[in-house]
Amino acid sequence: RDVILLGVPLDCGKRRQGCRMGPDAFRIAGLAESLSELGHRVRDDGNVAAQATDLPDREPLHALGETVGWTRAIAKAAEDAAKDGMPIFMGGDHALSLGSLAGLAAHAQTADRPLFVLWLDAHADFNTPATTESGNLHGTPVAYAYGCKGFEDFPPFPAPIPGNQIAMIGLRSVDPAERAALAETGIHLTDMRVIDESGIKRPLAVFLDEVTKANGLLHVSFDTDFLDPQIAPAVGTTVPGGATMREAHLVMELLCDSGLVTSLDLVELNPFLDHAGQTAQLMVDLTASLMGRRIFDRPTRGPQ
Ligand code: ARG
Ligand code: MN
Ligand code: MN
Ligand code: MN
Repeated sequence: RDVILLGVPLDCGKRRQGCRMGPDAFRIAGLAESLSELGHRVRDDGNVAAQATDLPDREPLHALGETVGWTRAIAKAAEDAAKDGMPIFMGGDHALSLGSLAGLAAHAQTADRPLFVLWLDAHADFNTPATTESGNLHGTPVAYAYGCKGFEDFPPFPAPIPGNQIAMIGLRSVDPAERAALAETGIHLTDMRVIDESGIKRPLAVFLDEVTKANGLLHVSFDTDFLDPQIAPAVGTTVPGGATMREAHLVMELLCDSGLVTSLDLVELNPFLDHAGQTAQLMVDLTASLMGRRIFDRPTRGPQ
């Protein structure tokens, strides 16, 4: 496949700094080389630059103006890249997805195909600028894409994504306002308890089946904190009890088998908190699994 790497050194979605070092950590951990070895044509387009805005900041939101500027720039880059191949957004914190989702939704509209979103995250990121308790806008992109009210300072979201086209897997930290808002959406919610009791494969297979039936585009948004902090310490918002290395590789391998993924975010890696590149390397290895690396070849099977 034609893979387009886009660095997004965005660090304004929360207060703790470091995610802006993410794009270079992914490069140094060998993301491009790993994907080339798998036979993909890889192009690194360098880093996206934030657009300037004169939007004033507004309490209690952290860095509203800067985040809106990034959203515009990333949306443009995402829409352009999606025409040429499979964009991989190397974040940057999760506020990146305000832009990637907006750009990909515009692309999907042009392509006349529904956009599905798989959110791999400890968090739901379903706050709005009105409900957020932290003021951190990295906790809001899914609400923006779903079309919640409260995003008037942001570009209008092109064709909001219906709940049945969104799945969250890995949930273990959801704010009360998010919980209430999610209840009415029809979003597929898989928390860690479901994974403990029946495994991670089934909820994913159910969702992928729906993407197939609808001939959808599939965007995967991979927050590093989906993973257990013991294997992925380089995250500002660690939550214990996350996905194991085997669960995460299985998700990636099943996504690969499905052939459905058309774009990917790699977000919330904070290299300043990493242990000798451990987390960056794991994220690169997981991306390689998503893009075709496997232990032995197996006959491709659909969801079952
Ligand atoms: N729900 C919390 C908040 O809104 C945490 C969000 C964490 N999001 C993330 N992308 N790490 O502040
Ligand atoms: Mn998270
Ligand atoms: Mn997140
Ligand atoms: Mn964070």
